Amino acid sequence: MSPRHPLRKPLALAAAAVSLGIPAHAQTPASQPVNPAAMVDQFEATGGKFEGYRRSGAKGICATGEFIGSAEGKAISSASAFSGQKVPVIVRFSVGGGNPRAPDNAKTQRNLALQFDLPGNEVWQMGNISAPVFGTSTPQQLMGRLQSLQADPATKAANPEKVKAFADANPEVLIQGRHFASQPVPASYAALKYWGVHGFGFTNAKGEKTWGKWVFEPLGGVQSLTDDEAKAKGPNFLFDDLRQRVAAGRVAFNFNLEVAQPGDRLDNATVPLPEGRRKVTLGQLKVTSVATDAGGPCLTITFDPNRMPKGVEGSSDPMLAARAAPYVISLSRRVTEGAKQQ
Ligand code: HEM
Repeated sequence: MSPRHPLRKPLALAAAAVSLGIPAHAQTPASQPVNPAAMVDQFEATGGKFEGYRRSGAKGICATGEFIGSAEGKAISSASAFSGQKVPVIVRFSVGGGNPRAPDNAKTQRNLALQFDLPGNEVWQMGNISAPVFGTSTPQQLMGRLQSLQADPATKAANPEKVKAFADANPEVLIQGRHFASQPVPASYAALKYWGVHGFGFTNAKGEKTWGKWVFEPLGGVQSLTDDEAKAKGPNFLFDDLRQRVAAGRVAFNFNLEVAQPGDRLDNATVPLPEGRRKVTLGQLKVTSVATDAGGPCLTITFDPNRMPKGVEGSSDPMLAARAAPYVISLSRRVTEGAKQQ
């Protein structure tokens, strides 16, 4: 995988710092690497520690399905996922956060994690979310945001001054929250859009490259609840809803790539592509069965989006690379604690 691509912006911040006569590192806190175990510790400190569960996306359900790549997908990437043959996929839907009892009827994040099992033991994993952006642009910023949100032991609540000071200095951490607050509660895991949020590159058989950001869009359209309907549904309705829709053969998504134009930011998960970019449908994902009990094949998988097949590569988004190690640490903690899954 190549860490660079032609659309990436140069180090504008560093250049600006030099022009002001300020040492670049003074404006580049991203130069300090974050220890991945300390990151997972911070997830636990801020969100609570729930043994046996994923440290993020804890309340989830495992399913299986199949993907069929389109001719457009094949034209954009030589990855075997786009051969046109049916590919088995392991699917996990979840509510954002580390709480395995998170309510289904809140205006929060939902997730769609996928593992495509490709020929020749190749695997393609991804973890997509129900917003076009993530909450932070660097792992350092994620750490700082989580620290600012950690409850003060005396008050058992986050210190509002700390939260405000961090957000004032890092205004992009508020973008994702505004998105969720502006959206109704989703009616179903199956009737929601899920974005990859990072930039990815696709190389075809001729060696031509296409960069963009992807989104999974439900074939039946987006469906949501009014505030009253959401209240009436209660905190646990998404699993049963999914089972019913899958049994009726109604759960499918288009895998769409929004194609970037020169100058578009692909290295920042808090910046979506501008509206109206050309969209290419790379194929269709159909969910065909849902795990019947707490187990299922997802238990020992960590859906690391850095695991891509030949023909697909990640951009230089620092949030993408920073996901790999904490995911493995979370996996090893939860399975050695005695893996659980709702
Ligand atoms: C440095 C940044 C990040 C860290 C440290 C982090 C951490 C984690 C951890 C620890 C897990 C649980 C893994 C497991 O036990 O298997 C997880 C799951 C997840 N994360 Fe992240 N994450 C990061 C960035 C992101 C971003 C940018 C997205 C946006 C697409 C994202 C989406 C997800 C999803 C969808 C899951 C649930 C996957 C599943 O069902 O297993 N994460 N994350």
